[in-house]
Amino acid sequence: MNERIASLPKAELHLHLEGSLEPELLFRIAQRNDISIPFSSVDELRQAYRFSNLQEFLDIYYQGMNVLQTEQDFYDLTTAYVDRCAADNVRHVEVFFDPQGHTARGIAFETVVKGIVSGLKDGEARHGISSGLIMSFLRHLSEADGFEVLRQAEPWLGQFVGVGLDSSELGHPPIKFSRLFTECRNQGLKLSMHAGEEGPADYVREALYEIGVDRIDHGNRALEDPELVDEIKRRNLCLTVCPLSNLALKVVSHMSESPVHRMLEAGLAVTVNSDDPAYFGGYMNANYQAVADGLSLTSAHIRQLAINSFTGSFLDDETKMSFVNEIEKHD
Ligand code: HPA
Ligand code: ZN
Repeated sequence: MNERIASLPKAELHLHLEGSLEPELLFRIAQRNDISIPFSSVDELRQAYRFSNLQEFLDIYYQGMNVLQTEQDFYDLTTAYVDRCAADNVRHVEVFFDPQGHTARGIAFETVVKGIVSGLKDGEARHGISSGLIMSFLRHLSEADGFEVLRQAEPWLGQFVGVGLDSSELGHPPIKFSRLFTECRNQGLKLSMHAGEEGPADYVREALYEIGVDRIDHGNRALEDPELVDEIKRRNLCLTVCPLSNLALKVVSHMSESPVHRMLEAGLAVTVNSDDPAYFGGYMNANYQAVADGLSLTSAHIRQLAINSFTGSFLDDETKMSFVNEIEKHD
């Protein structure tokens, strides 16, 4: 199965660029920016990557991104991720970044976006990997803070395919951001929200009925509500599930509990993604392999996941179909 996984064309739809910051690069960037970090080695840092819930991860994730300061840092981060995608035969990526994690530290919005956009552009030139950039709002902050970052983003909106909502889910339901997301929709941006990772099925319901999202990130707990499952299916909404992330953050206690198989069997447009691969132990192929093994998936399941990764993307229909045709011809 691993060869089949490796050779299939795939799209990644749920990836936080700051979560692809490998300890080696983190140390290198910290050194050149003369930033001291409370770990003496790459190994010691990796040892700290043990989490019992989402918040424990987020605390380390925000600490890690503090080393990113210059346009070059964001370029190097992006380049390393795209190179890693090429090795996994990922052909298209739609990536999140968290501007508020940087502007709050005094880094200019422009520094962040310029570094990322040029990294994606050069990555496409080197590997032929196309991309979409998704600006993600931090849900533990206020809606007013979100509007402020949207104002700063104004000159750059043409660079983004959509907006997302991430960070601490519990206590921060989608409805908290309904005016902000309406404004983003009016600006022509696609809408995606993390929902149902730790939060209840009701948060997924809100994302659908109150916000009208185009995609749901995670969505695990939607399975607790059969009526909601029917509606997600009716709308053909893509769910971007992250198997190794779910295991690392104890959203599931064993890979056999991953929702991927149940979602496939329910006819939902589920995809497999890496979320924060530097922290959760694997990129795309490792995530595919983990569910293939943990859920005894068939090669037909794997093919369906690869197809869903393109049909669930924000690519145009013609490009989607050409990838789907390529996968269907693949043996
Ligand atoms: N969930 C919520 N916020 C995040 C995540 C996640 O998995 N990764 C980075 N920010
Ligand atoms: Zn995520």
